[in-house]
Amino acid sequence: MSKYWSDMVKRTDPYKPGEQLNNPRIIKLNTNENPYEPSPSVKKAIVDEMDSRLQLYPSPTADGLRSTIAGALNVSMEEVFVGNGSDEVLAFSFMAFFQPGKTIRFPSITYSFYPVYSKLFAIPYEQVALNDDFTIDGEALFGSEGGVILPNPNAPTSIYEDLSSIERIIENNPDTVVIIDEAYIDFAGPSAVELIHKYDNLLVIQTTSKSRSLAGMRVGYAIGNRNLIEALTRIKDSFNSYTVDRLAMVAAKAAFEDKAHLQETVGKIKATRDWTVHELEQLRFDVLPSSANFLFATHQSVKAVDLYDYLKKEGILVRHFNSPRIDNYLRISIGTDEQMRVLVEKIGKYV
Ligand SMILES: Cc1ncc(COP(=O)(O)O)c(C=O)c1O
Repeated sequence: MSKYWSDMVKRTDPYKPGEQLNNPRIIKLNTNENPYEPSPSVKKAIVDEMDSRLQLYPSPTADGLRSTIAGALNVSMEEVFVGNGSDEVLAFSFMAFFQPGKTIRFPSITYSFYPVYSKLFAIPYEQVALNDDFTIDGEALFGSEGGVILPNPNAPTSIYEDLSSIERIIENNPDTVVIIDEAYIDFAGPSAVELIHKYDNLLVIQTTSKSRSLAGMRVGYAIGNRNLIEALTRIKDSFNSYTVDRLAMVAAKAAFEDKAHLQETVGKIKATRDWTVHELEQLRFDVLPSSANFLFATHQSVKAVDLYDYLKKEGILVRHFNSPRIDNYLRISIGTDEQMRVLVEKIGKYV
């Protein structure tokens, strides 16, 4: 703390990302990255772009990428906003739709960036307890004063809420914006994007970081009514006109155009997920029903933190949260078949 710090800096409580270790031998199952490389056309698009245009600023409106995303999701370009990872799109959304003095609501166990943004932008928040089975208590999110945000599937629980429950949350907050953070939706059921023409208070946020293997390029996007998109654009253009760089833009566009690659890699991850759940259950884990590219699991007798330490020593990184109700769980990203085989083998030896 220093006397030179602004009040904004003083009230921050920064997010702590999962460790990124440089050792390539580590099996990294701690940040829900995709174990497969992006579509080969992504590399080609990046090389072509590097060969010619890096001395020029990227398009501030990102029309090419927005129209590709719009086409893929069956909406119009004016209903799409793109940003530097969905974390940035989330931050802009907090600024655009939530405000100091009006309490927003989100689940008590959820993406840990939401309280971080709330503190940064001085937005009061209420954390709504999850049900005993870790599903979201939808009714507790009805009638918020300042707005609602929740991920679907939720993180770190991995549980997907069906679209009718999501729709009831949107209907029951008619005067505020409801943000559905769909970072993991491609591993789950139908998206709330289909509801944006029915509800002008719905903003859906997705990312290319998970299903499209582009965590390193940082491209996230929001889909919603054009008035909401205009608000996000006004925030962006009051902050930095060029949040998505040229390479990220062409990479994300190429990833969206290769639907076969998406289907193939998502299919492999889901199959590996099913196999891993089965194996962990054999080893006496309780695993929450996952609709994401990660599992949330607790062992019937071994403590999560001991298992976390053991796995780290053995060269496998998973995520442990030292928070109430979930401190005896591990969040395990789904890797390749081989990585999961090694994980199961090591855990088998320990338990
Ligand atoms: C629920 C949720 N939302 C958003 C993000 C951020 O994704 P990105 O900024 O890479 O698009 C993550 C990343 O793990 C997440 O788990």
